[in-house]
Amino acid sequence: MKRIEVLGTGGPDTMVLAEAPEPELRPGEVLIRVAAAGVNRPDVQQRKGLYPPPPEASPILGLDVAGVVVRTAVGVLWPPVGMAVCALANGGGYAELCAVPAVQCMPVPKGFGFVEAASLPEVFFTAWNNVIMLGRLAEGESLLVQGGTSGVGLAAIQIAKVLRGSVVLATAGSAEKCRVCLEYGADAAIDYRAEDFSVRVRELTQGRGVDVVLDGQAGPYTDKELGLLAPDGRVVLIASHLGAMAEVNVRDIVRRRLTLTGSTLRPRPPVYKGRIARALVEDVWPRLAEGSIRTRIHATVPLADVAAAHAMLEAGEQIGKVVLIVDPALVTAGPG
Ligand SMILES: NC(=O)c1ccc[n+]([C@@H]2O[C@H](COP(=O)([O-])OP(=O)(O)OC[C@H]3O[C@@H](n4cnc5c(N)ncnc54)[C@H](OP(=O)(O)O)[C@@H]3O)[C@@H](O)[C@H]2O)c1
Repeated sequence: MKRIEVLGTGGPDTMVLAEAPEPELRPGEVLIRVAAAGVNRPDVQQRKGLYPPPPEASPILGLDVAGVVVRTAVGVLWPPVGMAVCALANGGGYAELCAVPAVQCMPVPKGFGFVEAASLPEVFFTAWNNVIMLGRLAEGESLLVQGGTSGVGLAAIQIAKVLRGSVVLATAGSAEKCRVCLEYGADAAIDYRAEDFSVRVRELTQGRGVDVVLDGQAGPYTDKELGLLAPDGRVVLIASHLGAMAEVNVRDIVRRRLTLTGSTLRPRPPVYKGRIARALVEDVWPRLAEGSIRTRIHATVPLADVAAAHAMLEAGEQIGKVVLIVDPALVTAGPG
């Protein structure tokens, strides 16, 4: 089979299409013939050597796939061979065949093609894990999403709006991206390059602040975000692109019972990811099928042109997901 390998660390052109043996199935796994694979920010970080995979995970890039199950490990009853699925992979998605734990598979949502299905797992798992599980966003609570047009951001906006009835504020880096945040359900969008988001959030919430903040920037943003929380509020960090260190007002945390937390999905065990998969299938998949929650594909790129896909993310030009077409014939045939 063919897969993308990274030669050393560096720019997008360190990725090459190479011939490789089929991945071995471990207990509890299924082998997926990949039609399409999502491209995510963590792939770019891993390629640069900044986000090493956990020791037991595949070193091959690619955290979400959609395709057809072609083999199952002994004892795996679901998903069966022949079923069209999308899955959160523990790596190995940039390849014609990918082995994933069965519990991390989900059916392709009704009416979806493989490209749309491949755009879902990583961003919806991440949004669910951090907004609902860690952030504990409750019915009617408000949410600030930093980077609203990232794949994770669009998923978070919609989960909060549709499933929790939240007031959702989002930031984005241009007027066009702010418009997309509103289109996907944000009540207000703030161009973080044009104005100070913290001043604007205070204005928009009449000084109350928000209940939950979802952020991948950290660094100097962290204390500002804690200051924007209503009492008992939670800041959930999913990355630290602006810096790993932050000075925060601890007295304010104590006085107003604030929570500062964060997580990365990748090192969590299959049983944890399986719990998220089941919650998504129950709560989000029906909404995707009816169209009240949507995915957004920025571009599709052939597997062999993966460098162009990474260059898009590094230029920050994407709105939503970039998806690799791994098997054009399977994409055209569709999930059936
Ligand atoms: N912890 C986890 O488990 C996990 C898993 C997956 C992803 N992530 C993180 O989640 C984030 C989104 O991932 P993705 O793949 O969906 O990313 P992505 O599409 O590459 O988006 C990155 C986002 O960061 C925003 N951004 C950059 N500088 C900013 C600033 N100064 N203020 C506010 N926003 C800023 C960008 O906004 P503009 O484009 O509008 O400038 C963009 O929306 C990334 O930070 C990624 O590292 C975490």
